[in-house]
Amino acid sequence: MGQIAPIPRLNRLAYGGDYNPEQWPPEVWAEDLALMRAAGVNLVSVGIFSWALLEPAPGEFDFGWLDEVLDLLHDGGIRVDLATPTAVPPAWFRRAHPEARLVDHTGTILGGGGRQSFCPSSPAYARAATRITEAIATRYADHPALVLWHVHNEYGGVNALCYCPASTRAFRDWLRERYADDLAALNTAWGTSFWGQRYGDWAEIESPTTGPTTVNPAQELDFLRFSSDAHLANFRRERDILRRHTPDVPVTTNFMLANCKTLDYWRWAREVDVVANDHYLQAERADNFIELAMCADLTRSVATGRPWLLMEHSTSAVNWQPRNVAKRPGELARNSLSHVARGAESVLFFQWRAARFGAEKFHSAMLPHGGTATRIWREVVRLGADALPRLDELRGTTVVTDAAILWDWQSWWALELAWRPSVDLDYRDRVEAYYERLWRDRLTVDFAHPEQPLDRYPLVVVPSLYLTTSAAADNLHRYVDRGGTLLVSYFSGIVDAADTVHPGAHPGALRELLGLTVDEFLPLRAGETTRLDGGLVGDVWAEAIDLAGAESVLGYVDGPAAGRPAITRHTVGAGTAWYISTRLDAAALAPILTQVYAEADLAPPAGVPDGVELVRRAGATADYLIAINHTGDDTVLPATGVELITGVSCAGAVAMPAGEVRVVRLDRPT
Ligand code: GLA
Repeated sequence: MGQIAPIPRLNRLAYGGDYNPEQWPPEVWAEDLALMRAAGVNLVSVGIFSWALLEPAPGEFDFGWLDEVLDLLHDGGIRVDLATPTAVPPAWFRRAHPEARLVDHTGTILGGGGRQSFCPSSPAYARAATRITEAIATRYADHPALVLWHVHNEYGGVNALCYCPASTRAFRDWLRERYADDLAALNTAWGTSFWGQRYGDWAEIESPTTGPTTVNPAQELDFLRFSSDAHLANFRRERDILRRHTPDVPVTTNFMLANCKTLDYWRWAREVDVVANDHYLQAERADNFIELAMCADLTRSVATGRPWLLMEHSTSAVNWQPRNVAKRPGELARNSLSHVARGAESVLFFQWRAARFGAEKFHSAMLPHGGTATRIWREVVRLGADALPRLDELRGTTVVTDAAILWDWQSWWALELAWRPSVDLDYRDRVEAYYERLWRDRLTVDFAHPEQPLDRYPLVVVPSLYLTTSAAADNLHRYVDRGGTLLVSYFSGIVDAADTVHPGAHPGALRELLGLTVDEFLPLRAGETTRLDGGLVGDVWAEAIDLAGAESVLGYVDGPAAGRPAITRHTVGAGTAWYISTRLDAAALAPILTQVYAEADLAPPAGVPDGVELVRRAGATADYLIAINHTGDDTVLPATGVELITGVSCAGAVAMPAGEVRVVRLDRPT
């Protein structure tokens, strides 16, 4: 484990957020600056929704206010992540280009007055976005405050899929490329001999709008791939303009891992200079910090272990969940530092100052409506001005991970298309259950693409990888054969990239590796459970398994698969492949995972109370233990070194007060 290169042009952990000065009279800007400095803010994202102000009429620009803001920030020592404002085209664009409006799957043209209400495949949008991007890049290329480009905002957030005529034309072009202009290849891949759908001309192909019955799932799947790529083309266009003007300024865009289903971020992450993520807590969930950790780990993983930016999260409540539960005292710091522990080199918020008008006026901010006399402001200052500067030495160190969980957007899309064996099949549910088990056992997880090398992980978990390519199956086989421990959940290995069932019995692609066949899927009724040996209880799913080399570890006691194996284990080469054929929650997974860890030679840290999060970091000169106490009880953890937030040395034990975070630079044995 060694040092990794920190993010260029950021010389500290970044602190700040979206700054929208155009929503405030200029008299407020000086106060903003003073308060930003008091809070330790050193980076703000500017101009994200300002296209209509910067280009008030087609081709007419007004940069006066932005010049002033950037100069002010620079004079105040605050760096700028400057946006291309292309997420909201001006009203004049909508009026001039009705053909560029977003159309949903029912054919309804969606209205304006909000944001991202445009077709991602619109040529007029591409031209207009190019013009404003060129203008901004030209004007600010040499501005000394500029350290990062923020392209657009949350691609695909609300306009992921468009079904207008321009989108359909672009879809056909995309298909011609995918199938190398070979319509017969498309007919085969889409299985168009089913329901008489054969295409004799590319022009006959439509977008999968709402029909009287379900649409060809392979067509749906390709449309999802196309849509992710359509947004990516828009990103690339702007990125390339910016790179031409400022080859040394990194370019990013804010992702929404793992809550955006519609973009294939494995593909996207390769295209950005720095991976950046927005994460909003699922506030009503009691254990929402586990979901946060999962998203942070997924972000680091798509960044291939390199440092990443937390571009947005909230100081307290958001305004768009059904019940916007406020964060409790200390939660802001715990959330922020969990992201930092897992590789973020920034703590940035939406947004700096709470908005008085518009749709987000009830969204929390760094500076609330109540100003500096508020709890949130005090916590913002404590974190940014006090704690974070003491943690700078974490930059460039690596997160120590224990296991991998496979993650694949395309498999997620395919698994949740219409007419699957049960509506209760849920990709994220399985990922989260396995992630939660490992989190509670204090094992740190990387997410991995099914086709990437896996040898460095003693354990790889495969939660419902319904779409498994032959390359992925071979990869998993090789991994086990060489000594890996693999744990596969039900409904994996079923179809190929075209949503065609692998030949023979389920689970086709993984049948040999798992040493079994599934005679029949046995989905359970709503609320029905099935008991397993050892008192475990599953729901949602069961299978009639025939062993073909594997051994049964636990069987079904009742339910439709009574008397047959439920959990199996198969030795292949130097490794083992486990299979769990029913839905177990994180608690029920515990006894099985204990056996799996032993097989993988993994030893979860013992004696740590449930609800205390641990992450280890390794650097060239020091290692670190980051501990976050999500419980209401004080505790003590074994550690020897210096606690960085309090500056206190600890010999053998570090005190962990309820709700606090501790970061220990560990003494290395001499
Ligand atoms: C997203 C957007 C922001 C803001 C926040 C509110 O992340 O990028 O502009 O709307 O949500 O939570």
